[in-house]
Amino acid sequence: MTGKPISASRVVLSQIMQPLDANVSGNVHGGVILRLMDEAGGVAATRHCRARTVTAAIDSFSFLSPVYVGNLVTVKASLNWVGHSSMEVGVHVEAEDLRTGEITHTASGYLAYVCLDADGRPRQVPALLPETDEDRRRMAEAAERQRARLKMRRR
Ligand SMILES: CC(C)(COP(=O)(O)OP(=O)(O)OC[C@H]1O[C@@H](n2cnc3c(N)ncnc32)[C@H](O)[C@@H]1OP(=O)(O)O)[C@@H](O)C(=O)NCCC(=O)NCCS
Repeated sequence: MTGKPISASRVVLSQIMQPLDANVSGNVHGGVILRLMDEAGGVAATRHCRARTVTAAIDSFSFLSPVYVGNLVTVKASLNWVGHSSMEVGVHVEAEDLRTGEITHTASGYLAYVCLDADGRPRQVPALLPETDEDRRRMAEAAERQRARLKMRRR
């Protein structure tokens, strides 16, 4: 199985926040942002393995600034690391006030996905080919996080 570079599965997903995404004060629900993060992460993982994927874990993260109705939310997702069937995706979310052009950092997080075969069993994914020193650093850090996730799971 030939490896694939990180750039081959990178995703940018943008969506305008609508009234149904928010509470009565116009603040967008955290769950709406989380869903977009999972969608973008899932697309990146699926692009890498070109098969069915499921979300195995979402690491803890914080919402750093509020998002309002009318903001354009952009989610950037890219693979950090792959194991045999598992993949870690790093996700960065920002919100743009379209009237002023101000962009705020909403959240960043890590999500783990597992690639499945047609019978729903974990399936091998292509190797991830780092292209830069930054890619190599992210890969090493992601491997550590995956070890921590599995340790948590065993507990
Ligand atoms: C994720 C899932 C496929 C793992 O299946 P499993 O039978 O436990 O499989 P295994 O123990 O053989 O692990 C398979 C891979 O998943 C990884 N994995 C399992 N649990 C994990 C976790 N919590 N975090 C990160 N990776 C995990 C393993 O490390 C292994 O990776 P590797 O092949 O790269 O070594 C299974 O638990 C599942 O289907 N969960 C529900 C997923 C889902 O429906 N998500 C949507 C939200 S409801």
